[in-house]
Amino acid sequence: MPKKIILTGDRPTGRLHIGHYVGSLRRRVELQESGEFDKIFIMIADAQALTDNAGNPEKVRQNIIEVALDYLSAGLDPEKSVIFIQSQISELTELTFFYNNLVTVQRLRRNPTVKAEIQMRGFTESEDNDNKAGIPVGFFCYPISQAADITAFKATTVPVGEDQEPMIEQTREIVRKFNSTYGPALVEPEILLPDNAACLRLPGTDGKAKMSKSLGNCIYLSDPADVVWEKVRGMYTDPGHLQVSDPGKVEGNTVFTYLDAFCKPEHFDKFASCFVGKKVSFEFHNLDEVKAQYRAGGLGDMMLKNFLNAVLNDTLEPIRERRKELEKNIPYVYEVLRKGTEEARKVASQTLADVKAAMKINYFDEGVLDELIKEQQLKYSE
Ligand code: TRP
Repeated sequence: MPKKIILTGDRPTGRLHIGHYVGSLRRRVELQESGEFDKIFIMIADAQALTDNAGNPEKVRQNIIEVALDYLSAGLDPEKSVIFIQSQISELTELTFFYNNLVTVQRLRRNPTVKAEIQMRGFTESEDNDNKAGIPVGFFCYPISQAADITAFKATTVPVGEDQEPMIEQTREIVRKFNSTYGPALVEPEILLPDNAACLRLPGTDGKAKMSKSLGNCIYLSDPADVVWEKVRGMYTDPGHLQVSDPGKVEGNTVFTYLDAFCKPEHFDKFASCFVGKKVSFEFHNLDEVKAQYRAGGLGDMMLKNFLNAVLNDTLEPIRERRKELEKNIPYVYEVLRKGTEEARKVASQTLADVKAAMKINYFDEGVLDELIKEQQLKYSE
């Protein structure tokens, strides 16, 4: 049976939020516990983070530990998953250098995620606009480096959010091009997307399309309970739902999107008291019943937000607790990273050797030099 290998990761530019959690992190922990995979690699992509943070390496450096703490608190287990730091594996840059030749500038320009990110960061296409920064070459090419990340570990499965789809597609193209040009050294990966629409792209607390630090609409995994409540209280619901008795909209209502992403069957029993009020009370057994009542009118936003808060904290509390413990043991966290990086490096190094062998640029490998000398002697003796 061919091996099943996971590689995925995050840029360390901030603490992880609940969008990361439902979009990918929770799935990784499930996959880790499923025992279906021969190997799981989780990468802290600090080198990729530098492609648009060249001037702020300190931010990236500080956030490596934050992401590592979030990983371990969320349930990634270093006994079962290899957690490592991208920049410490120089083999990745070497692979990138060879893959660069297999991709055109035109193809990179078409990458929709890179396009959107260029827009968002205000990088302009113009060379002579002094007011705005141009597009850093490293940033423009990061899909190629991401292909190196994935292929270095011969990953078969890449669990990521929807926005990463173009990266995986680009990786698959590079693999096909490499294998057909040089011989089959690389493995074509598959993307693994979240299975629930709400998890695919969790909106910010303000209802905006994406949870993002710069928009200030995130709930972080490490937020204390009172901060979570403040954020939930201020959440965007249905602007037309003015009176409790008014019919409310469920579609596009962020509170319901979060409930779709976080609610478990047992929550209705466990948090039944959230729906007991002074004037009206409800008894719900599932989310569909809650939605139906909200649509009909009579169910207030406050009651609903109280319930969401309880549901969120049910997931976040154990994560917060583990984080508190881990924060007291920083040497352990760095040891996890150091060991993981050492193990990851061995694997990447083997792949690089395979790649060089396929390209026949492994001149000094055992046995290869002798052959090379014979070949050239023959040429010159003719
Ligand atoms: N691009 C990913 C992000 O924005 C991080 C990343 C880098 C990654 N290399 C990867 C994800 C390889 C999956 C596979 O967070």
